[in-house]
Amino acid sequence: MASGTSRDVIRRGLWVLGRAIREQPRIFAVAVAGSVLFGGLVIASAYVVGAVVGDVVVPAVEAGEVGTGTVALAAVALFGISVLRVVGIFGRRLGAGYMQFRLQAAYRRRVTRRYLDLPLAWHHRNATGTLLSNANSDVEAAWYPIAPLPFAVGTLVMLVGAVGSLFVTDWALALVGLAVFPALFALNVVYSRRMAPRQARAQRLRAEVSGIAHESFDGALVVKTMGREAQETARFAGRARELRDSLIAVGRLRGVFDPLLETLPSLGTLAVLVVGTVRLRQGAITVTELVSVAFLFTVLAFPVRAIGWVLAELPRSVAGWDRVSRVLDATGEMPYGEVTLDDAGPATLAFDGVHFGYEPAEAHLPGTSVLGEVAFTVPAGRTVALVGPTGAGKSTIASLAVRLVDPDAGTVTLDGVDVRRLTAASLASTAALVAQVPFVFDDTVRANISLDRPGIDDEDVWAALRLAEADGFVAALPDGLDTMVGERGTSLSGGQRQRLTLARALAGRPRLLVLDDATSAVDPRVEAAILAGLRAPAPGQPAAASILVVAYRRATIALADEVIYLEQGRVLARGTHAELLATVPGYVDLVTAYEQAEQERAENRTYDEVAPLPTGLEIEVDR
Ligand SMILES: Nc1ncnc2c1ncn2[C@@H]1O[C@H](COP(=O)(O)OP(=O)(O)O)[C@@H](O)[C@H]1O
Ligand SMILES: [Mg+2]
Repeated sequence: MASGTSRDVIRRGLWVLGRAIREQPRIFAVAVAGSVLFGGLVIASAYVVGAVVGDVVVPAVEAGEVGTGTVALAAVALFGISVLRVVGIFGRRLGAGYMQFRLQAAYRRRVTRRYLDLPLAWHHRNATGTLLSNANSDVEAAWYPIAPLPFAVGTLVMLVGAVGSLFVTDWALALVGLAVFPALFALNVVYSRRMAPRQARAQRLRAEVSGIAHESFDGALVVKTMGREAQETARFAGRARELRDSLIAVGRLRGVFDPLLETLPSLGTLAVLVVGTVRLRQGAITVTELVSVAFLFTVLAFPVRAIGWVLAELPRSVAGWDRVSRVLDATGEMPYGEVTLDDAGPATLAFDGVHFGYEPAEAHLPGTSVLGEVAFTVPAGRTVALVGPTGAGKSTIASLAVRLVDPDAGTVTLDGVDVRRLTAASLASTAALVAQVPFVFDDTVRANISLDRPGIDDEDVWAALRLAEADGFVAALPDGLDTMVGERGTSLSGGQRQRLTLARALAGRPRLLVLDDATSAVDPRVEAAILAGLRAPAPGQPAAASILVVAYRRATIALADEVIYLEQGRVLARGTHAELLATVPGYVDLVTAYEQAEQERAENRTYDEVAPLPTGLEIEVDR
């Protein structure tokens, strides 16, 4: 837990509740109104029961006969109260449920929206599992106490009403109430304050136990092949034991407090009967009043528990809220500028003195410099190939070119305008990145390519597919453009996925296309054909886009107007493919090594026929 004392947790928890009320004031008012109605009727029912006993039962016993009219009246009164109580419960539950689930939905939306706004650097620092639980269980935990909150607020009002009605009835009985109700309230507070750290500990251990289990299953292969079953079992058993002990501690506390919470009102009833009998003898109260008050003490015991429920949930709520607000308050999203580029033919991309380093995973570690003094230009309509060994910084340059990240020093410009000055929309329509690892949404082919962008019809989709050399296999799919692909649909080969993501980028008619090793799983001849097609969509036609392509294959690189050779974040050489082959030994080695690796790979598999390995297991062939 972020903060220390339980008093602090309760204070912060109440602040979170206050926030919830500010966000949903109307529904909260409905729920509290229902709860207050219920509370008022609980008090009323005590007095009606008293009246029934005093005015119907006692005279009936004394007279030996029952007045039908009075009984009917009493029955109608009790029935009416019950019906209204149902209305109150309904209003309270409905309101509380609405409020809780609406807040959950709203905050899930806010958290996921924030994920999209936060920069890549932030995502690099945060594990996917954490992001999932932030949007899911943390949001839920933050709003757990909302469910019993209206009940608790109604109960507070009811307690005040009860003490007031006691004073109207008899001051001596009121004093008993003043002793018992606050004691009951205080007991609830003590209970939840004791419970809070135990619950928090159990909650944390639950997460740890499932974490260990998850890790063991995930790493089952390693665990088995390394003969680590015994250690893994012991590790799991240790944590499971801790969880057991902590749950027993919770149970023990419950065992002490639950009976106390039950007993206190009974003791109160007893005190009422003792004091009440004396007052009855003195003639200060009537039988009706005595029965009413005794009954009141028994029916109040349960609603008071609602206050305890809210308090008990506060620590979990605060922990959840802390984790949710860590996302909502995270900063570093990239501010966009105001400039919109004209939509006029291929764009010019220029890097000038660009330095870049990834932020360290932990603040105290030094950041690493990945790019230094990188400068090059992709002139309008030209194709530039970026070549270099793994880790040279090619993907980083690709990210900078479409402004997924910003340089630490130097500038990246499109048509002479610093990309930081462009609007998000202008940037998105001007430059498109096709990443190394293709991502296909679990949707139709059409949706995967158009992404619901306005002005992209089926004809545009087909044109993009043709350019990506993907029209053939899409046409052969059972439902064509309507075929579901991705997780739940037709599974595609690695090369097919790559061509779909390429078509997706092309459909937006970008003026700069950045291909980060985007066709590596496609047959080499097809890859060259794609690039040739992109450079000149139709014979004699100028290129629609400037192209920055990360590539390794001779046939592909040879198509580029210029090759930039990169090593360890520095531009070592630039020129045509033929020039670099003749002058740069490292370049020759790299291209040759890649060709050999490809040949070996080709002997083991055929391009496009093999379904891709899951992300992360993709074999890196560019060493
Ligand atoms: N998200 C990241 N966080 C920290 N370091 C990174 C990250 N991504 C890449 N790097 C490092 O930056 C360097 C360049 O990586 P990258 O641009 O992916 O190279 P390439 O695409 O040429 O293989 C490598 O040393 C790599 O380890
Ligand atoms: Mg890369």
